[in-house]
Amino acid sequence: MMDDSTMKIDYAPYDDATQTLRQIDKYTPSATRVPSAPLIERPLTLSERTGPTELVSKWNVGKLDLCRLAPDSPRALGQLIHVTGRVTDEDGAPVSSVVMEIWQANASGKYIHELDDHRAPLDPNFTGQGRLVTDEDGRYEVFTVKPGAYPVLYSGWWWRPPHIHFSILGTSWMNRFITQIFFPGEVLNEKDLLLNGVPSRDVRDRLIFKPTDTVMGDLSYIGYQRDFVLRGHRQTPELP
Ligand SMILES: [Fe+2]
Repeated sequence: MMDDSTMKIDYAPYDDATQTLRQIDKYTPSATRVPSAPLIERPLTLSERTGPTELVSKWNVGKLDLCRLAPDSPRALGQLIHVTGRVTDEDGAPVSSVVMEIWQANASGKYIHELDDHRAPLDPNFTGQGRLVTDEDGRYEVFTVKPGAYPVLYSGWWWRPPHIHFSILGTSWMNRFITQIFFPGEVLNEKDLLLNGVPSRDVRDRLIFKPTDTVMGDLSYIGYQRDFVLRGHRQTPELP
């Protein structure tokens, strides 16, 4: 039997060139989200090296719809959008059967969360969050609404541009990836402290949706696309 205590740490450190700054000026929470002292290395055990299994058989693989509580329910307010893409490793190989969770504000810029103090209305027909499993080609597909911008009340000046939060949980508990994806052409993108915490414009572009095909039908959607690269020099930056 393998002795877990002898397992070496083999997860390479992040390349800072592909990441957001560890300390972001004027964004006070960044000080609490980054270790203030060097990390202590310790051997990884099975608790870190394993994770949920057989998710494809346990959960439906397929499209996620946040726009309606049920297929025959009224649709949510706002601009309907269709978001697609792939999750890949640094070589472009699909990362299949991993859990993707998304959460976002509604079209008024309001989250379904007790700590959201923004004086904007909730939408009873918008679910605000959901979960799916990537298919064999690493693809995901979500029907939702374009989120509204919202003010960061404590800042006294800052509005977050429209964005969607993504979490991808890989094959082990060590493999959680979290970020936010933004919309092209939004003026608020230019001043967002988190998006602009990624110093390189080229790297920031990996956090912006690309317009893609519309979906026409019973309900019609504007299309956006974003792939996620989990490692390597083309890695998608992580954002809190
Ligand atoms: Fe947000």
